[in-house]
Amino acid sequence: MLSRKASRHNLAILRRQVRASTQLHRADAKIMAIVKADAYGHHLSCVLPELERQGVKEFAVASLAEGVEARRLSSKAEILVLGGTFDWKPAMIRVLRENRLKVAANDLPSLKKMMSVDGLKVHLKLDTGMNRLGISPHEWGEAIQILKASRNKLDGLMTHYASAGDSIFVNQVRLFDEGLIWFWSNGVRPPIVHSENSAALFCRKPHLRETFASQVANRVRPGIALHGYLTKGVKNTFGLRPVLELVSELGIIKRVEPGDGISYGHLYRASRSHDYAVVPLGYADGLSKSYAQVLSPEWRSPSGHKKGQLLICGAICMDMVMVRAKRGKLKTKDRIVFWGRFPNSILHAGLVEPYELNLRIAKRIPRVWVNE
Ligand SMILES: Cc1ncc(COP(=O)(O)O)c(C=O)c1O
Repeated sequence: MLSRKASRHNLAILRRQVRASTQLHRADAKIMAIVKADAYGHHLSCVLPELERQGVKEFAVASLAEGVEARRLSSKAEILVLGGTFDWKPAMIRVLRENRLKVAANDLPSLKKMMSVDGLKVHLKLDTGMNRLGISPHEWGEAIQILKASRNKLDGLMTHYASAGDSIFVNQVRLFDEGLIWFWSNGVRPPIVHSENSAALFCRKPHLRETFASQVANRVRPGIALHGYLTKGVKNTFGLRPVLELVSELGIIKRVEPGDGISYGHLYRASRSHDYAVVPLGYADGLSKSYAQVLSPEWRSPSGHKKGQLLICGAICMDMVMVRAKRGKLKTKDRIVFWGRFPNSILHAGLVEPYELNLRIAKRIPRVWVNE
């Protein structure tokens, strides 16, 4: 279930942070929502229309296929394909144009190819130390030549940070600033500039005043914060709330006697007689077998009232898991919430990163907005 309330709350916090932390962007910078990887597992078809309703007009995705899917969901949105694609074939460029998609140029050959396509909106990525995609400082001169030789005007300049708030980050910020100043002084002044992901937006940066970026960067690129999380290492003292709760319901209720085992290998053995429930959700759905030791799902009534905690009994199966109550009587159709808006023991135990948590939930689990 996806909480509309949490989503709106997070966007409000992000917008407040954009206005409050203006060292690396203009105070009027807009949010370009990163919704790649099916909106980090929340499903693009749910997230994009909802964010649009909340006033977000720009989105970025990873691949051409995701861009086409985003365009299918919105005829009006500005959509940037960030792309780890290196070999843009003419047919792919045609798809970009047909779907009015913008595209990141991540190396000089792509820049050359893309700037030769009339009307294609290109964002040039500067590699400032992430050492992944983008052009390095020794390539800036050639980039200027390509851009000057093109009839097309560059739409954006961008970079991506490898960390936030530390010396790696500060070095990258400085290099990006140098890059911006270099491009500006060479007459390349694209209308759009952006660099900050969630961590960069929310980290402390008192030492970064008076950047050139703070005058020209007019977009920020959060992803994970929209869903209520921050990168490990950046404390969520801002009140971001998880949007997704992984919810199922108690199915068949059964009983074990002392000594009886439950599930594969009988890894769980009852020390007393008690009821337990079979829940139709397993590791094929994203409930990794490794979570069994630490996960204590929340138990709620069918109407959502909290009834207590549940304990996992034995091995998590492909499509099912068995649970018992610490106390109280289990009832078919009671809700079980594996994770969501309560302290997350699997994140805490380091079994998964916030980015992967909901990405691992299978496609077959429906994502549904609720007004809670
Ligand atoms: C280029 C780029 N920008 C922005 C983001 C958003 O990052 P985050 O989800 O940490 O806010 C990502 C995500 O990995 C990214 O690859």
